[in-house]
Amino acid sequence: MQPRPRSNLRGGDTNTSSSASASRGPEQTAGARSKTLSHSPHAGLFDIGLETMNHRIAGLFAGIGGLERGLARGGHSTAMLCENDPAAASVLAHQFDDVPLHGDVCTLAALPPETTLVAAGFPCQDLSQAGKTAGISGMRSGLIGEVVRLIERHKTPWVLLENVPFMLQLSGGRAMDVIATAFESLGYRWAYRVVDSRAFGLPQRRRRVYFLACLHDDPRQVLFADETPEQAERGDFRSVACGFYWTEGVRGLGWAVDAIPTLKGGSTIGIPSAPAIVLPDGQVGTPDIRDAERLQGFPTDWTKISESVARRNARWKLVGNAVNVRAAEWLGRRLARPGKVLEFDTAPLSQTGSWPTSAWNMGNGRVKVFASERPIQRSYKSLHEFLLYPLSPLSVKATAGFLGRAERGGLRFPPDFLRTLRDHLARSQDSEVPRTRAAA
Ligand SMILES: C[S@@+](CC[C@H](N)C(=O)[O-])C[C@H]1O[C@@H](n2cnc3c(N)ncnc32)[C@H](O)[C@@H]1O
Repeated sequence: MQPRPRSNLRGGDTNTSSSASASRGPEQTAGARSKTLSHSPHAGLFDIGLETMNHRIAGLFAGIGGLERGLARGGHSTAMLCENDPAAASVLAHQFDDVPLHGDVCTLAALPPETTLVAAGFPCQDLSQAGKTAGISGMRSGLIGEVVRLIERHKTPWVLLENVPFMLQLSGGRAMDVIATAFESLGYRWAYRVVDSRAFGLPQRRRRVYFLACLHDDPRQVLFADETPEQAERGDFRSVACGFYWTEGVRGLGWAVDAIPTLKGGSTIGIPSAPAIVLPDGQVGTPDIRDAERLQGFPTDWTKISESVARRNARWKLVGNAVNVRAAEWLGRRLARPGKVLEFDTAPLSQTGSWPTSAWNMGNGRVKVFASERPIQRSYKSLHEFLLYPLSPLSVKATAGFLGRAERGGLRFPPDFLRTLRDHLARSQDSEVPRTRAAA
């Protein structure tokens, strides 16, 4: 069991929206640099310097372009995209209409020569396989091996990977060992950090691993130049809107206070499904797909074009698989202007078992880092206020199914939660009966 990360910052600034201290690493050589006059939209949030680093990105496993959109907000541009799902590709072709788009990564011969950063939110399942064998040969068995194949051929100065925190536990930690070993043997220094999207003011609990490898620079200047103290929960059930997965209820609930639980690309019942929300007035329903897009940092209807090639419901999968745009924006701005590495408590990284939520290897050994999951805290909008569109009431079938599982299972629920759902069920049955009669 992984210990909860402690925010244990010693001597560094708490970098919130007002702190600004200039610092650049001595060896920053990669990426195109351009002089700016510090009128960037993020002045004040990040270190104010005269130079920014503007990367040319190859976006592999690009999905609907969450990473690339966020990185673009940091001033970087996309040289190519690679995505083989027709619905996701239709979104990329529409939203990044001037960027070359390739299909299957396995048939991609090489990265564009101008690439300085590879961005890859690769499918996690592949790591289970990779974890069974050691080193780069292990990685070759999965799609992440395609990333290694491409960077072996063209050693880009920067590589950014994104994945679910489950990758830290896969195959008893061996999958992470395979990734770290692969980058170490190619001469990269690496750092990673689990970050929760709530840090960026969005009411969605979404923890993701951001792994950054550099050939010449210090990846910690991107991932560990910001820190805020651990945050308390924001209110409780019925005082604020709460989210949960109505498809669960036996082993877990996906409970989130004043937030929705992680939007997913799939669910325990096999099809992508929206989480449910209980509003403070007792309404129970699922959010509109346009609010889901906003909860991922996209404008509304970012994925609408996909309805020309796939069913409307497929948008949930696209949105659930995406990298949160605001998280990518934080990375993009820090990549443009790396900061001073703050002082965190560290400990040697044990070579067995699950990996910690933050770590680095600067070329002199793997180190576990005690960092919080919220490097910054942008002002937070309550879930109830955030939603622009009405909820679709949770159906009788879905509510009854959830209640059945919850009542049979051994989970403990917040006080009044099940009663609120039973009241919702009774109201929904009352309103569905006349409709059924009318139809008969
Ligand atoms: C976790 S999602 C990445 C999401 C993306 N980074 C974003 O921000 O929207 C993984 C993506 O990899 C794509 N993928 C899987 N196998 C692929 C392959 N062989 N070639 C290209 N893309 C692939 C999937 O279709 C999926 O969209």
